[in-house]
Amino acid sequence: MALRLGILGSGKGSNCRAILERIRDGSLDAEARIVVSDFGDAPILEIAREFGVPHAHVAPGNFRTILEPAAEQELVRTLQRADVELVVLAGFMRVLKAPMLQAFPQRIINIHPSLLPKFPGLAAWKQALAAGEKVTGCTVHYVDAGIDSGMILGQREVPIMPNDTPETLHARIQIAERELYPEVIGCLAV
Ligand code: GAR
Repeated sequence: MALRLGILGSGKGSNCRAILERIRDGSLDAEARIVVSDFGDAPILEIAREFGVPHAHVAPGNFRTILEPAAEQELVRTLQRADVELVVLAGFMRVLKAPMLQAFPQRIINIHPSLLPKFPGLAAWKQALAAGEKVTGCTVHYVDAGIDSGMILGQREVPIMPNDTPETLHARIQIAERELYPEVIGCLAV
């Protein structure tokens, strides 16, 4: 039976689009039950509309890097009502806390733009450039209580070119992300 996904994102949603395309063309045995954003005007919600997937905005409250506890409880209820089995973070830029981790134990995954455990945290591609790395990449991992520290499910390497800017490097990483994420979800679906 198709794996029931809830996709969470704060921004442009290119990973979400890649997943929805793979579901639509039949190469990923999953069902997108809902797309949720912490920003009411996030492009990822437009993508959900385009693909006919139910979508919701959960107002985050006043904190910047986490959801206020009441907002996180609302997120849990929203995902549970949608009967979500696996929570897929696709550019969701807030750290999840106990309400989500307890409601979906070992059932939340994230994609991160570096070869973890190297460069956790924000703008990982800039960190890799600044460190003078020759190779970076992306990682899909389970979400735990730490920052980008959960068990690694899959990685893809991406070369760093001598003339790369943060923008060119992130764009190259994102091409790899859009291949890796549906592939890892496919492995969890069997
Ligand atoms: C992706 O590059 C993802 O790896 C990154 O945000 C971008 C979202 O792009 N996530 C993180 O940095 C999480 N720590 P998208 O909205 O186009 O999918």
